Amino acid sequence: MENVRSLIDILELSVEEIDGLVATATDIIANPAAYAHKCDGRILATLFFEPSTRTRLSFESAMLSLGGQVLGFSEAASSSAAKGESVADTVRTVSCYSDIIAMRHPKEGAPLVASMHSTVPVINAGDGGHNHPTQTLTDLMTIHHEKGRFENLTIGFCGDLKFGRTVHSLISAMSRYRGTRIVLISPEELKLPSYVKKEVLQRCGIEYIQTTDLEAVMPQLDILYMTRVQRERFFNEEDYLRLKDSYILTAEKLWNAKEDLSILHPLPRVNEISVAVDRDPRAAYFKQVRYGRYIRMALILKLLGIN
Ligand code: NCD
Repeated sequence: MENVRSLIDILELSVEEIDGLVATATDIIANPAAYAHKCDGRILATLFFEPSTRTRLSFESAMLSLGGQVLGFSEAASSSAAKGESVADTVRTVSCYSDIIAMRHPKEGAPLVASMHSTVPVINAGDGGHNHPTQTLTDLMTIHHEKGRFENLTIGFCGDLKFGRTVHSLISAMSRYRGTRIVLISPEELKLPSYVKKEVLQRCGIEYIQTTDLEAVMPQLDILYMTRVQRERFFNEEDYLRLKDSYILTAEKLWNAKEDLSILHPLPRVNEISVAVDRDPRAAYFKQVRYGRYIRMALILKLLGIN
């Protein structure tokens, strides 16, 4: 729709706009009261056709913290999708009831279709194994606060790089910064899809390596981005069971890591980071959750055109 700005892919935001969102989110942390009524009278709809804890609740918490209100559903079964309604019709309807929509859907491209039929901004809150731009904003906010910069960082992505949508979006975002190096650590079967390699890494001339050996590359990393093996995207349970524990980060495996390494994870965690690592000062994944709320507040303000 014309004049309505949605967020479907992280690259729709320029690097300057990302800096602006990080600055706003940082100001919200310092001065929450100044933002507490910015969205009075506004409504956020959360349309979650796939389960979520963090993303949905963090959107809801973000809108409530801005003085707005929320409505929505948290599973397809409790919406008219169960009666066969199309995404286009659901969104046409919900845009009459709300000012902004956050949508998660198991089908790649569904939030894009929704944005084409909505009269209010649509935010992609995760589409299948494709993209997850607001997790990427959360990751960028964390990187900015942990490292103080986006340039000249070596980031290791470990785990399910095939189905992990947060990985695809963060690689896209980081490919725009000078001196980014990417280290891809996964089992053979869960390698980064070739379209991401071609369209992002090779096109942007990003230096990258692929390996199966986490410990061998550990000393190079400034950031280690661990991920869960995405059970729900597997065609058979046997493959999942065989691959699920491919990487388990333990305190021992960090012996040769940099002292200022930052360990990120979009969560939920299953087995891939042992709980003993939570006590390591380099573990940043729970801080990351906290940043997610503030950066989503900044994004809602931006898309609604509120200063
Ligand atoms: C991620 C997702 O939904 O893709 N979670 C999240 O949004 N925090 C990662 C995952 O589910 O493994």
